[in-house]
Amino acid sequence: ASLKSFNTFGIDAKAQSYCDINDLDTLYNVLKKHYKTPLFVLGGGSNMLLTKDIEALVLHINLKGIEIVSDTDNSVIIKAMAGENWHNFVLWCLEHNYGGIENLSLIPGNIGTAPIQNIGAYGVELKDVFVSCEAIKIDDQSVKTFTNSDCNFGYRESIFKQGLKNQYIITSVNLKLTKTKHQLHTDYGVIRNELDANSIKAPTIQDVSNAVIAIRQSKLPDPNEIGNSGSFFKNPIISAEEFSELECNFPDVPSYKISDEAIKVPAGWLIEKAGFKGKRFNDYGVHNKQALVLVNYGNASGKEIFDLAQLIQKTVKRIFNIRIETEVNII
Ligand code: EPU
Repeated sequence: ASLKSFNTFGIDAKAQSYCDINDLDTLYNVLKKHYKTPLFVLGGGSNMLLTKDIEALVLHINLKGIEIVSDTDNSVIIKAMAGENWHNFVLWCLEHNYGGIENLSLIPGNIGTAPIQNIGAYGVELKDVFVSCEAIKIDDQSVKTFTNSDCNFGYRESIFKQGLKNQYIITSVNLKLTKTKHQLHTDYGVIRNELDANSIKAPTIQDVSNAVIAIRQSKLPDPNEIGNSGSFFKNPIISAEEFSELECNFPDVPSYKISDEAIKVPAGWLIEKAGFKGKRFNDYGVHNKQALVLVNYGNASGKEIFDLAQLIQKTVKRIFNIRIETEVNII
């Protein structure tokens, strides 16, 4: 089976075998039977680069359902199944006036994979609204609930990428959202500019979502049109000492202070300065409006894109002496 339509990069890799998981019983039974065979868990396919065929049984997690599990005057806890599309879920929440994830509008992928990399954008991360998730352990099919602190969330990080990598399949996520007194996060310059441009003085959560959608559509390619996985690299965090050296050589370098000791530098800027922005080779390249995004214009192979990523890493290291790590999982 071809996985081309199951990964947003649109890479034509093949799966040895493939199974749609539409309910929890099927998942349990398949794991009970196959937990010893190589498995490959597929969610929205929005954060991976397939560089070869998958010699495994691919489990496509397609569990659906949204349910309110707790409802008070000011907030709700919503349980969403892993196979729900993230952005459709955001839109559902906006329709019901539930606030907290409007800044995360238009992020590709599914509910079940959102905690793995602690998705984030424009000053909000999943961990800010995350209550817990339920997951099934592949090797003994036991069910475990992970609380927010169990997940060890960090910048595009969680325990599911670290110590528990490939051990659990997340089946549902519980999020706590506001019904009243929404806490808006409009401190990002681009959001404020977008709201100002539309003369919005007292924004609603819907206004913030609209602003985020407009910003993302203006610089991020739509995976339905051009294959991509969003930011290909993480923004590197360097020491204050390394930063002063960088700033001395490149006085216009943008930065965000994380602490007195740690400074985040936009990888997009490093890649642009290194000359890669908008570069195209055959059917693959670097997006022309956001250098952090690698793209597949049609029939690129995962290997070609991976080689480009390595060339970018090497060049950035040579020019700035900074190592940029991939955000996307390389398979
Ligand atoms: N920049 C450039 N050239 C570029 C791109 C960026 O110079 O081609 C510089 C500019 O100075 C710009 C700054 O980088 O002001 C920041 O750019 P942007 O606001 O586009 O954000 P980012 O740091 O490149 C991160 C996330 C995005 C998220 C945005 C907004 C990571 C790896 N990426 O990108 O997340 O949408 O902030 O919060 O942290 C994703 O993870 O897939 C993703 C798209």
